[in-house]
Amino acid sequence: MEKEANYILAIESSCDDTSAAVLRNKKVLSNIVATQQIHEQYGGVVPELASRAHQQNIVPVVHQALSIANIDKKHLSAIAFTRGPGLMGSLLVGTSFAKSLALGLSVPLIEVNHMQAHILAHFIEDANSTPPNFPFLALTISGGHTQIVLVEDYFKMEILGESLDDAVGEAFDKSAKILGLPYPGGPLVDKYAKLGNPKAFKFPEPKVEGLNFSFSGLKTSILYFIQRETKKNPDFVTQNLHDICASIQFTIVHILMRKITKAVKQTGITSIAIGGGVSANSSIREALKNAEKQLGWSTYIPKFEYCTDNAAMIGIVGYLKYISNTFASQDVTAQARYAIENNK
Ligand code: KG4
Ligand code: ZN
Repeated sequence: MEKEANYILAIESSCDDTSAAVLRNKKVLSNIVATQQIHEQYGGVVPELASRAHQQNIVPVVHQALSIANIDKKHLSAIAFTRGPGLMGSLLVGTSFAKSLALGLSVPLIEVNHMQAHILAHFIEDANSTPPNFPFLALTISGGHTQIVLVEDYFKMEILGESLDDAVGEAFDKSAKILGLPYPGGPLVDKYAKLGNPKAFKFPEPKVEGLNFSFSGLKTSILYFIQRETKKNPDFVTQNLHDICASIQFTIVHILMRKITKAVKQTGITSIAIGGGVSANSSIREALKNAEKQLGWSTYIPKFEYCTDNAAMIGIVGYLKYISNTFASQDVTAQARYAIENNK
């Protein structure tokens, strides 16, 4: 007999991507992401402009998600939305929209923690060839987050380490900005790094206790290094761009791998699942694949569309909560800070 079909409409609006998805159980029927281009000219996300763009995008994005999924809204089982963490003005747009729609359709409302969603994206039907088994370690790396999380069950998570300052994506983007590359510079650093020597320049690695990270010192040392070298040779950056990018990337990936290796030793868990936009980075992928071969780890990298901010990952959490009858009330509020340990 066919499993009962539950249709979840999911909304994500925590930062600068307005996204809506429709899932039929664990399968994604549509996953629309409107990325806001407006921030490019400012070299980073401007919160005020982000919430305004969400207001403009949300209705067309939801319409498109329903239309591609070929489903009428009256057949939806529930509405899931990102409650936090994120930018308050951005979260308010998705939260208010989801509450109104759930009320209008008389269907349950489901609140989702964005960081849990990055991790549970691995359980979307076509995210991986097989999802990770519990327990596993999740490494969530993006423009807004850097966390190592112990995942014991869908809703039993514990942060083992996180960045005390900049996120790893910010380290890529801010380094790229120093080199005069456009925002977001992470993908460009990756591209140029492929052509350069990762050992050409050495940058100091931060000394941070335990499994926490720090990336702001690295950014400062890159800035001083570039200022020093361009004083001697104004064309230093253009003449050495590939080697500089390769060396920056080598340092960042080394920091990540050092901490994840420490987490493996500390927990004895060798299943590593990564998520977030930085998991597109070719060097971190290669390092994980090497660890798989040499150290016997199992590594999980979901499809890229489920790594960056997207509503399908909100939808899978929505589905998991729906089948366990975990619903939110209409007085639920957005949370700019929302701990992953708030497990339900
Ligand atoms: O998850 P995401 O799309 O958005 C959030 O920040 O939540 O991640 C975007 C980040 C940016 O910092 C971008 O530069 C970085 O991911 N990124 C990369 C690569 N592709 C995206 N960083 C390094 N190498 C890449 N290939
Ligand atoms: Zn995110």
